[in-house]
Amino acid sequence: MGRLSQPLFYKAMLKLTERLQMVADFLDPCACFADIGTDHAYLPVWMLQNGKAHYAIAADINPNPLKNARTTLAQYGFAEQIELRLSDGLQNIDAWEVGAVAVAGMGGNQIADMVAGTPWLQDEKKQLVLQPMTHFEDVRRALRENGFSVLREETVAEGERVYLAISARYSGESRAYPEWYDYAGTLPQNPTGTNLLYLQKVLSRLEKRAKALQSANPKESEKLFAIIKEIKDAC
Ligand SMILES: C[S@@+](CC[C@H](N)C(=O)[O-])C[C@H]1O[C@@H](n2cnc3c(N)ncnc32)[C@H](O)[C@@H]1O
Repeated sequence: MGRLSQPLFYKAMLKLTERLQMVADFLDPCACFADIGTDHAYLPVWMLQNGKAHYAIAADINPNPLKNARTTLAQYGFAEQIELRLSDGLQNIDAWEVGAVAVAGMGGNQIADMVAGTPWLQDEKKQLVLQPMTHFEDVRRALRENGFSVLREETVAEGERVYLAISARYSGESRAYPEWYDYAGTLPQNPTGTNLLYLQKVLSRLEKRAKALQSANPKESEKLFAIIKEIKDAC
C-alpha cells in the first residue's frame, strides 16, 4: 500500500485557553493527576499529550460534563489513560491514586471546602493547583488554616477578565499572616501587568463592601478600610 493510501491516525494537539494553560503550566510532572470539575477533560488531555502525566482521573459531579469529556477523548485519544469518574469534589478519589490535584473554574468557597474537607491532601508529596473564579480569599484562608504553603501564584488575562491560579503543597507550617493576605496573597510583591489589574479589582470590591457596611456595621467597615490601606502599602 502506498503511503498516501494509508489511514492517518494523526491527532491534533489540544490548545488550551490562557486560563487553563496557566493551570497546566503550574502542574508538576507526575504519574497521575486528578482534574476535579473537569467538564471537557481538556486539562487531562493536554497533560498527557505534553508528557506531564502518564495517567489522569477526569472527575466531575455531573454526568453531562463527563459526556463532554468522552467526546474530547474520542477526538484526541487517551481513553486508556484518562479515567472518567463521577465524584463530588475529591470524595471518590483515593489518596494513593494521585500525585497532583487540579481544581479549576469553580467558586473559591467550593474549592476551600474541598481543601478543608480532604485530610489526605495534607501530604507534602501531593501538589494542589487551584484556580478559583470567585471568593479567592476563602481559598487562601483554607490553605493557610490547614497547613499548606503557597508555592506560586499568578494571574492571566482572557478578554476583560483576570484569572488567578495558586500552586500549594502541605508543609504543616502555621505562621502568622497579615490580615490582608487572604485578599491579595503574594501578588503585592509583583504589582505589575495582570497582577496589578487583579489587585485593583480586589481593592474596588473591598471598597464597595466597606462603604456599604459603613452605617450597618462600622467596625467591620473600618476593618476593611484598614485592609485596603495595608494592601496599598504592601504594593
Ligand atoms: C465551569 S466548569 C470548569 C471546567 C474546567 N475545570 C475549566 O476550568 O475550564 C465547572 C465544572 O465543575 C463541575 N463541578 C461543580 N461542582 C463540583 C463538585 N463539587 N465536584 C466535582 N465537580 C464539580 C461542574 O459540573 C462543571 O463541569
